[in-house]
Amino acid sequence: MLRNIGRKGRDLSGQASSKDSTANQNPAVSRETVSRETGGEVDTPIAIAAERASQVLTPGGTGALPRPAQRRILTVANQKGGVGKTTSTVNLAAALALHGLSVLVIDLDPQGNASTALGIDHRSGVPSVYEMLLGEVGLREAIAESPNNKGLYCVPATLDLAGAEIELVSMVARENRLRNAIDDAVLDEYGIDYVLIDCPPSLGLLTINAMVAAREVLIPIQCEYYALEGVSQLLRNIELVQSHLNKELFVSTILLTMYDGRTKLADQVADEVRKYFGDKVLSTVIPRSVKVSEAPGFAMTIIGYDPGSRGAMSYLDAGRELAHRGGQQ
Ligand SMILES: Nc1ncnc2c1ncn2[C@@H]1O[C@H](COP(=O)(O)OP(=O)(O)OP(=O)(O)O)[C@@H](O)[C@H]1O
Ligand SMILES: [Mg+2]
Repeated sequence: MLRNIGRKGRDLSGQASSKDSTANQNPAVSRETVSRETGGEVDTPIAIAAERASQVLTPGGTGALPRPAQRRILTVANQKGGVGKTTSTVNLAAALALHGLSVLVIDLDPQGNASTALGIDHRSGVPSVYEMLLGEVGLREAIAESPNNKGLYCVPATLDLAGAEIELVSMVARENRLRNAIDDAVLDEYGIDYVLIDCPPSLGLLTINAMVAAREVLIPIQCEYYALEGVSQLLRNIELVQSHLNKELFVSTILLTMYDGRTKLADQVADEVRKYFGDKVLSTVIPRSVKVSEAPGFAMTIIGYDPGSRGAMSYLDAGRELAHRGGQQ
């Protein structure tokens, strides 16, 4: 069931890093090349990684994904910090975009980590989600294309957003400001199939705005101690938004992140989450991998940074699952 865990045995973990990056620099390295060098052994980890990278980078090489019948808007939320919200937002977005879908990431976290990972300028003064919330600029002015990812767009967050949580309190329709600012005509113009909203680690007004603007909630859960801590509070908030502000909202997807197959704890957490959320949990699990955490430092997603790596493959698998499941309740 946990497909990516199954792969682990064939991949290198620590040792794989340098080899994986060799494969990335030259994804065209073929099985034959490796075969000659190793005297006929074709199934080496470097050969496997190189073949995967080459497949990922070949247009259409990983197969097409269905366009959703209706545009899907997902908010990626968990008020627990550091569980993989931003990492999952940008990498799922990149996975969907690689398959020819048009994706918009809205960075709703003043830290601006999603903007960084997508290579989008988010210095103070750049038209951003902050000005959109204030009604000073429209989506058309704030949207920017990620230079490293075709079909992937981003509304950046600047540090100015840090004050928004307080500024919004006294505003008219304070919970609906993001929804009102997401101009359907502009989304249509860009042919956007998916909107992913990266939330800050809190249940404040920014996250509420994201929940009002979306139809689906995607909750990343880290396979660590206290994984479910705070999730019941998150679910209560979702119910509140559902009953008062956005009756369409529902939790569609749970993604297990930072899975470390060497620990029993990771399996226990995964089992517990699956028992609780059932088939909302994607069968793909994101492994803990240093490469995944390195990628944003190069303004890249893991799929661009090391397409043959376990991290990239798992986000590609998760993106595929997300697309094939559709957005039904
Ligand atoms: N699969 C992974 N393997 C290793 N490190 C990871 C993985 N996923 C995320 N990380 C790292 O863990 C840290 C937290 O991840 P991330 O920023 O995505 O979490 P977050 O929930 O968005 O955090 P915040 O609540 O601060 O917004 C980052 O340093 C990130 O690079
Ligand atoms: Mg984040």
